[in-house]
Amino acid sequence: MCGIVGVVGNRNATDILMQGLEKLEYRGYDSAGIYVANGHKSSLVKSVGRIADLRAKIGIDVAGSTGIGHTRWATHGQATEDNAHPHTSATGRFVLVHNGVIENYLQIKEQYLAGHDLKGQTDTEIAVHLIGQFVEDGLSVLEAFKKALSIIEGSYAFALVDSEDTDTVYVAKNKSPLLIGLGDGYNMVCSDAMAMIRETSEFMEIHDKEMVILTKDSATVTDYEGNEIERGSYTAELDLSDIGKGTYPFYMLKEIDEQPTVMRKLISTYADSEGNMNIDPAIVKSVQEADRIYILAAGTSYNAGFASKTMLEKLTDTPVELGVASEWGYNMPLLSEKPMFILLSQSGETADSRQVLVKANEMGIPSLTVTNVPGSTLSREATYTILLHAGPEIAVASTKAYTAQVAALAFLAKAVGEANGKAEALDFDLVHELSLVAQSIEATLSEKDMIAEKVEKLLSTTRNAFYIGRGNDYYVAMEASLKLKEISYIQCEGFAAGELKHGTISLIEDGTPVIGLISSSELVAAHTRGNIQEVAARGAHVLTVVEEGLEREGDDIVVNKVHPFLATIGMVIPTQLIAYYASLQRGLDVDKPRNLAKAVTVE
Ligand code: AGP
Repeated sequence: MCGIVGVVGNRNATDILMQGLEKLEYRGYDSAGIYVANGHKSSLVKSVGRIADLRAKIGIDVAGSTGIGHTRWATHGQATEDNAHPHTSATGRFVLVHNGVIENYLQIKEQYLAGHDLKGQTDTEIAVHLIGQFVEDGLSVLEAFKKALSIIEGSYAFALVDSEDTDTVYVAKNKSPLLIGLGDGYNMVCSDAMAMIRETSEFMEIHDKEMVILTKDSATVTDYEGNEIERGSYTAELDLSDIGKGTYPFYMLKEIDEQPTVMRKLISTYADSEGNMNIDPAIVKSVQEADRIYILAAGTSYNAGFASKTMLEKLTDTPVELGVASEWGYNMPLLSEKPMFILLSQSGETADSRQVLVKANEMGIPSLTVTNVPGSTLSREATYTILLHAGPEIAVASTKAYTAQVAALAFLAKAVGEANGKAEALDFDLVHELSLVAQSIEATLSEKDMIAEKVEKLLSTTRNAFYIGRGNDYYVAMEASLKLKEISYIQCEGFAAGELKHGTISLIEDGTPVIGLISSSELVAAHTRGNIQEVAARGAHVLTVVEEGLEREGDDIVVNKVHPFLATIGMVIPTQLIAYYASLQRGLDVDKPRNLAKAVTVE
């Protein structure tokens, strides 16, 4: 979802902005633009479509040492050049990029901008006209920016340049992600570290309702009253090689392949050499004190919550309830007496999840964010954080973050269970079992060609499909169907196998693809096989994914047996590959599915 990059100082701004925007492509966008200035000479270039389309429009005369760039994911107004950022004020003097949603933009237009001619339909254009108007009215640039910020409601990350003085970039943030990158003789601003890591590994956080006055030699953080705030910098762990695709055709395949390594990284991070859990005792205590765990998340992270539910309940003896973040942010149900909230979020920036966290903080509920991104908003604002250590996940379709979330929660569950003296937790050799999971993943990954062939036969022409399973397999079916939908555009439902006959089986017709997931016990397997027979009898084209030990002749994909608490990890891997090949075989852009953004930073 929208990305911002900006730079001021002794560097080639065009190059930095374009490289940065390319690194932000993974967030999802439908148009892009840059503004570059060299003293009083400046250029504004925008384009609908990919960064490559923008690049094609940039001539050698687009050069300078100050600049701001933007990738836009349309919210207000279609993806057109007029709506693409950067936007300019009425006289063209001020240039602004924005990520977020200005909620009161129509009121602002009515109240302050009568007679202003706007080129597009965006809320952002209104913000830059407002700043320009205040300067016309006699305020200094800084005062005008501050006054606009005091009026604007909603979420925003802003980077503003005054074309009459391009030695400064004015930055402000509320709810939308934004970071400062510090260099030698230049400074940068960006939506995430990945876009700046080629230039610097030294970063500084900006908190909500803070401004930064950025020049080539300084980054001054203030509140909206202008009071200076001391803020240290930190060195990002990120490595440039982490964000490359290497020899892979798509990031998604690379990230699927990285999962055994991620499992081993989690073992070395959250267990010591003797297998003792290495989880912050304060987090363990907080969970121990809770009478109910609430997992709040969106999309794949929500599904990962389900995939961890049984294990968490069995090991901690605490009921686990799941909530869709976008619902709970505005419609919080009745909670238990001592709730503990766990926010699951790969990016740590999902606005819907953040809305729940804001509410939880207001209510004084202890919270834990489980995220892949250190220093992310959800991590900063929760009481505690557990990091996934999965390395950057760039494909829009989340894969390694899902399996890392389940594995990370397994360490938490075991640590809490042990602290409670629960025999099942003490006996659960997580380090060993997770090593077996890593091996199981490797075994599935070695069957890629076979899986690709089966996918071609099953899904090459279909418009719809079903995943079915019981218990944990149902939870995996939810994630498997989301993955298939988002990158292949095949309409797919993940169903509880036994529930199909209560209505949805009417959709099964000759050739409807149904993928049956079978793990767990003989009894569960027998019932799911019964449901598979029911759909096959009605003409469904069936593919089975079965855990070793439960397989029968004719089954399609057999997954190595792992500990039942971790079976959702083993079972999800073939479904990730099914989605990948279905998308690839349809000739789609696997990593950047239409309409989707990697980090969904608007509610
Ligand atoms: C996953 O494949 C999706 N792209 C999406 O559902 C994602 O999981 C969701 O938007 C939540 O993101 P988060 O984990 O960064 O909070």
